[in-house]
Amino acid sequence: MNIGIIGAGYVGLVTGACFAHMGHNVLCVDNDLKKIAMLKKTKSPIYEPGLEEILQDTVKKKRLHFTSSIDEAVRDCEVIFICVNTPPKENGEADLSYVEGVSRDIAKRLKSYRLIVEKSTVPVQTGMWIAKTIKSIQPKKSLYDVASNPEFLREGSAVHDILNPDRIILGVDNPRAEKLLRKLYEPFKAPVLVTDLKSSELIKHASNSFLATKIAFINQVARVCDAVGADVEMVAKGMGLDPRIGPSFLKASIGFGGFCFPKDLAAFHRMSEKLGAPFHLLQEVINSNEAQKKYFVQKVINNLWNLNNKNIGVLGLAFKANTDDMRYSPTIDIIEMLQAEGAKIQAYDPEAMERAKLVLKNVTYKKGTYETIEGADALAILTEWDEFKQLDLKKVKKLLKSPVIFDGRNLYDPKEMKKLGFKYYCIGRTQGED
Ligand code: UDX
Ligand code: UDX
Repeated sequence: MNIGIIGAGYVGLVTGACFAHMGHNVLCVDNDLKKIAMLKKTKSPIYEPGLEEILQDTVKKKRLHFTSSIDEAVRDCEVIFICVNTPPKENGEADLSYVEGVSRDIAKRLKSYRLIVEKSTVPVQTGMWIAKTIKSIQPKKSLYDVASNPEFLREGSAVHDILNPDRIILGVDNPRAEKLLRKLYEPFKAPVLVTDLKSSELIKHASNSFLATKIAFINQVARVCDAVGADVEMVAKGMGLDPRIGPSFLKASIGFGGFCFPKDLAAFHRMSEKLGAPFHLLQEVINSNEAQKKYFVQKVINNLWNLNNKNIGVLGLAFKANTDDMRYSPTIDIIEMLQAEGAKIQAYDPEAMERAKLVLKNVTYKKGTYETIEGADALAILTEWDEFKQLDLKKVKKLLKSPVIFDGRNLYDPKEMKKLGFKYYCIGRTQGED
């Protein structure tokens, strides 16, 4: 099938590349000329494991193409996905002006039937607005349908998630749209759930909000564990053995970040208020996540006392491992809070440093792990990259001014760390601390 993708970002590019990998002909459109120039040289503008290889292969097989003009996509592609960004406004509401702009651009060019699919995460009723917008420009209803097909990819494992989906949600309002989307997803061999548009839109917001709530919940449990000397990893394991709860997304941390959970929670909360069905629990989740970052910083202050002019080595800047994405990374708030207390930050991340430099000021960026640790008064581990899980701890102890580690990702065993002579502070496992 010929598929158009409007918006070649974290979601659009990986989705487009994976569709091409599954045998479709894909045209990715983006109005960022620099991005398109890079992609035309088969270079990925983002770090995403496995993506570069798929790009190389599908471009070589002439199944994946890039352009900055939407004309070709509307002319040649029967199914067009809207994957532009939906950034949050000041009040948390999703800014849908790019979605509207793209809908108008498509409408103006419609000459034969096209299925327009929203893939960007959008609040409920956006599909209805897309349809209204198109209708205002192109009244011929036989020329288009609007559908919703939310993505559930996690950055860092996006390629795997798209190629091995646990479900495909098709929000459609007629059999023609359903048939086309079913055909598109046939090679993926995954369970398909067909719903109306609004339910499909809600599945995405509700799923992300539920997952974020799960993380906030275990982080609150971690704080109670710290208070009584229990182990949150054990509590999570015990809870997760109940199939009604399940083991995933119960990893205590410095708080969730990224371009989805914080933004989607705020947008869902705002939408619920607008609809007169206020979802107060979501505001509590947002508050709890903010508090978790402060909780980590307070641990540092409680144990180092004055931070003024103390050097803190920070390992990890990206909002999670295996991505270079810094959007809403909890590390930004944490580093800024440490800096506000007078701490000097030296930091390293295997992939996110270039993006970090755009948002974090007055940080000394180091070339590698051990350079970051060297001479620091304490080490803070903020992202769970594999290489931070395998530190040469004897070397770390020698390089640090004093053997103090704040681990925001629970990468090590507190008892072992104590044996090795570290003061090791983590999240919800005070047993090994003194
Ligand atoms: C996506 C979604 O669309 C968002 O709703 C979801 O919650 C997270 O994933 P993402 O892919 O991460 O956003 O955004 P980004 O990497 O910024 O990509 C969006 C792309 O759309 C950019 O490359 C931008 O240049 C392009 N764009 C934006 C257009 O081509 N046209 C526009 O009018 C606006
Ligand atoms: C998320 C959803 O998982 C995905 O389905 C959706 O389509 C987009 O949003 P993503 O934001 O890429 O994906 O990453 P995810 O793995 O969900 O992690 C989000 C944040 O939660 C990260 O900051 C991560 O460190 C944190 N997290 C995750 C925890 O703190 N604990 C956990 O147990 C899981």
